[in-house]
Amino acid sequence: MKTILVTGSSRGIGRDICISLSKKGHQVYACSRKEINIPGCIGLVLDPGNLNSIKKVTEYFKEKKVKIDGLVNNAGLLVNKPFLEISEIDFKNLAQVNWIGPALLIQKFFPILNRGAHVVNISSMGGFQSSEKFPGLAGYSSSKSALVALTECLQVELGGREATFNALCLGAVQTEMLKEAFPEYSAPTTSSQMGSYISEFVLFGHKSFAGRVLPVTISTP
Ligand SMILES: NC(=O)c1ccc[n+]([C@@H]2O[C@H](COP(=O)([O-])OP(=O)(O)OC[C@H]3O[C@@H](n4cnc5c(N)ncnc54)[C@H](OP(=O)(O)O)[C@@H]3O)[C@@H](O)[C@H]2O)c1
Repeated sequence: MKTILVTGSSRGIGRDICISLSKKGHQVYACSRKEINIPGCIGLVLDPGNLNSIKKVTEYFKEKKVKIDGLVNNAGLLVNKPFLEISEIDFKNLAQVNWIGPALLIQKFFPILNRGAHVVNISSMGGFQSSEKFPGLAGYSSSKSALVALTECLQVELGGREATFNALCLGAVQTEMLKEAFPEYSAPTTSSQMGSYISEFVLFGHKSFAGRVLPVTISTP
């Protein structure tokens, strides 16, 4: 049985990763900015965009002497606006949630990772080099590119026997995030399908990949 922590678990892909891992019998810490209850999981209040919240949760694990085998940085923010209308606050929020938050989370959690742990950063096809780009997503996609570069850097600096870092660049998945940003679009992949794929990947992906940035899509070239 592995101990896995997932951020942004209140809905969408994060929730489905937690459900899938819990059904496989793993110990799952389902993290959200609010209190949540997912059957079979331990709910933890964690805002990956807030350093104090990250520190509080780190202390919780240290006090309980619990170590983590898998960390999925799933929480993400999407802003769909023409580039000329994206505000400074939008850029800051996107950077905080999609790049700086995961970076700080990994930094503070590093001491509580078990040897051989797998850190999976959830990026987007928009953040994958040379993929097709879409109008309205300049802020979002560039913040997801930062997460991709972070993953590659961490594998060089911290990767090895202690931990492995990989990034998954997801194509379109039918979730509320997608519906809010593109109400007319219908994605070919369900949240449950993607949740189950990522749950397998966090458990076993580091046996085959290290420091990799992998496109996970059937919809985007
Ligand atoms: N759906 C897609 O088509 C698609 C495509 C490519 C990549 N992705 C990525 O996949 C991940 C999951 O996306 P999803 O589609 O499941 O989206 P979602 O339903 O909107 O869930 C995203 C989660 O991120 C957290 N979050 C949102 N805004 C936040 C903020 N300002 N500060 C901190 N946390 C925040 C929320 O967690 P809590 O409320 O629980 O804290 C939320 O449950 C994201 O990283 C997203 O960028 C999705």
